[in-house]
Amino acid sequence: MPNFGNYEQIIKDFSWSISEQELDYKPGQVINIGWYCSDRICQQGKADKTALIWEGFSGAKKIYTYNDVRLCSNTIARFITGLGINAGERVCLFLDRIPELYLGFLGILKTGAIVQPLFSAFGEESLFVRLENARTSAIFTQKKHLSKVRKIRDKLPDLKHIIIVDYDGKSPLQEREVPFSMENTEKIENYEVYPTYAETPSVLHYTSGTTGQPKGVQHVHYSLISQYITAKWVLDLRDDDLYWCTADPGWVTGTSYGIIGPFSLGVTQFVLDSGFSAEAWYRFIERNRITVWYSAPTAIRSLMKAGDEIIKKFDLSSLRHLASVGEPLNPEAVNWSIRVFGKPFHDTYWQTETGCIVITNFPGMSVKPGSMGRPFPGITATVLNHSNHEPYPEPGRIGLIGLKPGWPSMMRTYWNNEEAYKNKFRNGWYLTGDRARIDKDGYFWFVGRDDDVINTGGHLVSPFEVESALLEHQAVAESAVVSKPDPINMEVVKAYVTLKPGFTASKDLELDIMNFIRKKLSPLAMPQEIEFVDSLPKTRSGKIMRRILHAKEWGEEIGDTSTLENE
Ligand code: WTA
Repeated sequence: MPNFGNYEQIIKDFSWSISEQELDYKPGQVINIGWYCSDRICQQGKADKTALIWEGFSGAKKIYTYNDVRLCSNTIARFITGLGINAGERVCLFLDRIPELYLGFLGILKTGAIVQPLFSAFGEESLFVRLENARTSAIFTQKKHLSKVRKIRDKLPDLKHIIIVDYDGKSPLQEREVPFSMENTEKIENYEVYPTYAETPSVLHYTSGTTGQPKGVQHVHYSLISQYITAKWVLDLRDDDLYWCTADPGWVTGTSYGIIGPFSLGVTQFVLDSGFSAEAWYRFIERNRITVWYSAPTAIRSLMKAGDEIIKKFDLSSLRHLASVGEPLNPEAVNWSIRVFGKPFHDTYWQTETGCIVITNFPGMSVKPGSMGRPFPGITATVLNHSNHEPYPEPGRIGLIGLKPGWPSMMRTYWNNEEAYKNKFRNGWYLTGDRARIDKDGYFWFVGRDDDVINTGGHLVSPFEVESALLEHQAVAESAVVSKPDPINMEVVKAYVTLKPGFTASKDLELDIMNFIRKKLSPLAMPQEIEFVDSLPKTRSGKIMRRILHAKEWGEEIGDTSTLENE
């Protein structure tokens, strides 16, 4: 029997206090995610239970019990308080998926500081704008990423500590750099966890918008209430599960459901820190007897592409529940998974801003392939009319997904950008920026984004950020970045560029521009193609109309062009 029972009944009776009670939390009390995910689990008698099994790309393996997680996070917490970092300061984790990332996340939260996880493949420019915006005090990183930090640190006066977790003593440390070795530091048995409360800021995740620099989505410790119960009911995590979330904690899936959800439930989870290969993934599932697997459509499409034959080589019978997030999950992928694994991938819809799954196919509920499912209890979700932001009274209409604010893990603001935050609300609804329709059974069907943000393989890319990077190249006069279709990633980034006088379009120039921006952005945000054009379509007021270029890539009707300047 799944953890989640009858949908209609639960919706009727639900209150977030169910989760509060299960976590022994009473409103007004101290609540600290770091403590809940380690100390509390030990207090429940699971100190010796395996919490984390980590595998590196070379086959290295490390195992941590819940007591180890408690001690290691205490040790990291003591280390950063020792550096003089205070509650409320931002501490960045700029690490591959190594154990220090997971343990550091909880350790930072124990100190009352705000944890800012950033994807380790970010180039220096992507890293810089996020550290500058958050006025980050300290960054955890590895030798291999240090050169990126060194290049930008002089422009970051607030960044007082650069903590290197694998310093080998070979080359001298530079200013502000300090080594920290998890293995060689004496473990701290007792750490006095900082008394954070429900509304104390916890995690700062950066997400991409259409205009302006990335925005810091600010969460609070109370988010645990949502993350715990959604992990339990949607991912169906149980005490004996062996859970694998494939997401990197640089993104919200990797923290809400790759750290907080499973650890707050005292579940054993796995991390595989290596690139994608169908064979390696199946072998990982087989060897570790994975029972619950949370992944993403792009990965699923890549597995489909690898073919069904290869699956027969592995025993994947341990898999009990499968879920997916990040992009539309096509019906073909669901049907394929039923065929090859004997069970469907359950789609889950949510965002960095929502902090937890808000619309989903619950275990035990009949899955309609292609649909995102139904709202989580306690979440009021609807589809709003574009023009007046009123919910459509009848099913079947395409509109904007609107959520009634107020669930525990809803973002509290965009860091230092209250205006952008306020702009997300209309008529009392939080707008996710996505379009959908609801069918007569109350199932949501994703239609598309309502802005120019590109979702490539589950990663949101801001066209603005890529355009800004392009404009720094000496040959580029103007640029417009849109998506183009792709069979695996659904969409990839494409750049249109006009050149400054004296430059001529050529393959070499394209390569030169690509190399130039590669250092600045993340590989995921890199354009797959640059097309040189003589001019870009613009409105009369001079705004570049990405919409026209987008329509061209997707073979769609261009629509109203009456405001176009150069028709
Ligand atoms: C998209 C990731 C279709 C959507 C947790 C959303 C989805 C954005 C789905 C958030 C889904 C996420 N079906 N689209 N099941 N899940 N999205 O902030 O556009 O990185 O607004 O959070 O991804 O991406 P984010």
